[in-house]
Amino acid sequence: MDNKDINIEDRIDSLLAMMTLDEKIGQMTQVRHFEEIPEDAISSGAIGSIIHTEGPLPGSDAASWQATFTSLQKKALSSRLGIPLLFGVDAVHGQNTYNGATIFPHNIGLGATRNTQLVEKAAEITAVESKATGFNWVFSPCVAIPYNEKWGRVYEAFSESTALTEEMSRASVKGHQGRRLDQNSIMATAKHFIGDGATDNGVEGGDCSLSPQEVKERLLPPYQAAVDEGVGAVMASFNSMARLPMHANKYWITDVLKESMGFNGIVVSDWKGYSRFGENEIINAGIDMVMAVDGDFEMYREGLKAGVENGQVSLARIDNAVRRILRQKLRLGLFENPFPDAGLIAKIGIQKHRNVARQAVRESMVLLKNQDKILPLDKNLGKIVVVGEHADNAGLQSGGWSIHWQGSTENYTGSTTILEGIKRLAKGEVIYDIDATGDHEDADVAIIVIGETPYAELFGDIGGEIDAYQLTLSEEHQRYISTYVEKGIKVVVLLISGRPLVTTDQIDRSDAFVAAWLPGSEGHGIAEVLFGAYHFKGKLPHSWPKSVEDYQGKYGPNFWDSSYAPLFPFGYGLEY
Ligand code: BGC
Repeated sequence: MDNKDINIEDRIDSLLAMMTLDEKIGQMTQVRHFEEIPEDAISSGAIGSIIHTEGPLPGSDAASWQATFTSLQKKALSSRLGIPLLFGVDAVHGQNTYNGATIFPHNIGLGATRNTQLVEKAAEITAVESKATGFNWVFSPCVAIPYNEKWGRVYEAFSESTALTEEMSRASVKGHQGRRLDQNSIMATAKHFIGDGATDNGVEGGDCSLSPQEVKERLLPPYQAAVDEGVGAVMASFNSMARLPMHANKYWITDVLKESMGFNGIVVSDWKGYSRFGENEIINAGIDMVMAVDGDFEMYREGLKAGVENGQVSLARIDNAVRRILRQKLRLGLFENPFPDAGLIAKIGIQKHRNVARQAVRESMVLLKNQDKILPLDKNLGKIVVVGEHADNAGLQSGGWSIHWQGSTENYTGSTTILEGIKRLAKGEVIYDIDATGDHEDADVAIIVIGETPYAELFGDIGGEIDAYQLTLSEEHQRYISTYVEKGIKVVVLLISGRPLVTTDQIDRSDAFVAAWLPGSEGHGIAEVLFGAYHFKGKLPHSWPKSVEDYQGKYGPNFWDSSYAPLFPFGYGLEY
């Protein structure tokens, strides 16, 4: 502990000595900015944090977002002890809840770049744009290690590799928070602790049946990296571990994370964690702050208060939770600087930020096949046909958690599409044949953009033991490819997806095949690589299965069994 830390602990001691039980529980409470709570809840000290995710926006533009949070903050400062609020947001690939922010490739694409400096820079920009919209806390990075691609959140994580995830997590926390958590930082959150991506059959919130030893070796290292980097918060996961819900899992949260690993920040519950996972048991397990959302507010604060009064929860546990929360508020300098900086608004979505996102798009693209060196494409080709609804739709190319929780199917402010990028660089004719019904026998090449439609969380689960069908392309998208192959036209396929899909036949049939993941707002980056202005750099962050059965092999009971032979191994990626 240096002098700064000692001073912080002293200030916490004096605040704790003045606080009532209600005020302490207040610090442990997080609600939405539009939640139905009593009029005086904030000014009476009954709320410690505000969250924004899906739902009514805090305002129409960044200035009004800031104004909303400033007025809520003023209420908190008017409370008896004047403790400021933390404002948290799901900014998981840029400030993606704000229409007009820079949206980066999802983490799976960043994992493909292997570029830690770039990941750090992306997190720094996300921090600036999130602060510009009024926040001091982001619920990112997701440091999960997906072991089953049927899971709907594979793209939120960097890789199936522990070592790569560890490096990327460190870079991301550093980018968000800076060298240490202070007034220049935004607080980051490593999530979801632990086992979220390793549930049986890839079910969101399912059971993870790995042994404690496997969890320690495979899943814990990125958390240790985040903790060593000073991550301010860790979010508990919806899944259970050997059937015990993680929210109520004292062994992992308190004994391992807090005590053995030395995490001294906030463990926050996930959505409605209190009512879903055992009420006061989650506090005893070590949850410090509860997302008391969607009607949970009253039952949570009354339930916890009763639990303390009847001895179910000790005051020492409450004091420890409040200490952790106040510690981060003090480190962030919120007592001195509680309000958002209006000067940052001008930085949202600026070209400098977009250029970094565009670099990330270019470096995330993985070239899986390049028959007869058809790529890079010649800019002077006479006629290029671009096919597929994903080609000209920034929403579809961005995936879930883009403008809306479940993503969008429309263009959004400041975004550029893949087609726009192609049109900008190609010197010849560019035709858009959205559904491959056009009559373009004379085309020199068809660029076919296909893939998944946006989803988030459980909505992206394929689930179940055998139902792996949707890990293949839709019949419509398969038809786009075969239509052009059958015309005898050279076919370049761009796959937009949040995970590897079973595309063995389509790869066979096409001349070039590129995994572009979920690139985000800067569609121009794609064409820059296709036309050779930049080289392919991306390397697979997941091994790529060759058949639907492979998913069972890869992720069956022995999913680290070396008998699994993928179509392309982890780390694969061709270059020009
Ligand atoms: C998700 C978290 C997210 C939280 C707040 C939950 O449903 O699992 O990743 O941070 O909602 O929006």
